[in-house]
Amino acid sequence: MILVTGATGTVGGRVLRRLREEGRHVRAVTRDPARAAFPGDVSVAACDLDVPSGLDEALDGVDRVFLMSLGHHKATHDTRVVAAARKAGVVRIVQLSSLGVEEVADRQDNPLARWHREAEEALCASGMEWTVLRPGGFMSNALSWADSVRAEGVARGPVADMPEAVVHPEDIAEVAVRALTDDGLVGETVALSGPESLTPRAQAAVLAGVLGRDIRFESVPLAVHRQKMLAKYSAETVDGVLAALADVLAGGDDLRAHVLPGVERVLGRPARTFTRWVCENLHEFR
Ligand SMILES: NC(=O)c1ccc[n+]([C@@H]2O[C@H](COP(=O)([O-])OP(=O)(O)OC[C@H]3O[C@@H](n4cnc5c(N)ncnc54)[C@H](OP(=O)(O)O)[C@@H]3O)[C@@H](O)[C@H]2O)c1
Repeated sequence: MILVTGATGTVGGRVLRRLREEGRHVRAVTRDPARAAFPGDVSVAACDLDVPSGLDEALDGVDRVFLMSLGHHKATHDTRVVAAARKAGVVRIVQLSSLGVEEVADRQDNPLARWHREAEEALCASGMEWTVLRPGGFMSNALSWADSVRAEGVARGPVADMPEAVVHPEDIAEVAVRALTDDGLVGETVALSGPESLTPRAQAAVLAGVLGRDIRFESVPLAVHRQKMLAKYSAETVDGVLAALADVLAGGDDLRAHVLPGVERVLGRPARTFTRWVCENLHEFR
């Protein structure tokens, strides 16, 4: 049995779907099984990683785990899952981390990098088989433009011209499934990017081209962006993410602009393009 955390989310949802398609027995973690609509053959564990209880039941009979958690509790959550998994006899954990760990490795610490680094350290010291995935920015972050693109033909964000080799979440999920089901990635940390480096303004231009309408990119001050993020995440999480962004902007670090070999090395084919992601998600912007 493979336990998938974040099973209603962008990456975990895709990991769950792919594992099912391969005929694997899967158990999905969600805080609210009534809201999440999983297919009937999926075992479901109601579990809130904020609360220490519930994990032992979720891990009963599990031998592998896809581990994601988010925000300023990430290190606490992942450490909790790793400890419970070890106790339950889990053999392998594949962890979703972040390229942010590498971006700031030689410079001033920032919270986002620290949360992910501490989470990685807990896993790597566990004695279980592990694989760490470090993706850069997700292509799906562009969904935050959907409302304003539909309503006004405008994409808004705090940074217009910083290039980033954004990665398709499906590629992350595909690599995660390989790491869960093959033995070739045990003990490896894999950095993942998309196949081309695109500024947010250039991403909006790709979207405009596929949609066939004008889209203007509008830079917003960090304080305005912060307010928008607060609708979805805690203040600690938002400030950690923005501190990481400020760090990258101040340092002129272009790691996030690098096209990395991870996806192609693992999957044996080029990473999915942003144009492809746009075509798959066009309905969100119409
Ligand atoms: N976005 C990026 O550009 C980027 C870049 C690099 C790395 N990352 C990494 O990827 C993560 C985001 O992954 P994603 O986009 O797949 O996430 P997502 O789509 O935002 O999904 C969040 C998932 O987390 C679950 N969740 C939230 N709080 C929980 C809790 N207290 N207990 C149990 N489950 C909880 C939700 O489940 P329920 O609501 O069903 O309970 C949901 O399935 C980031 O946090 C970061 O670590 C992201």
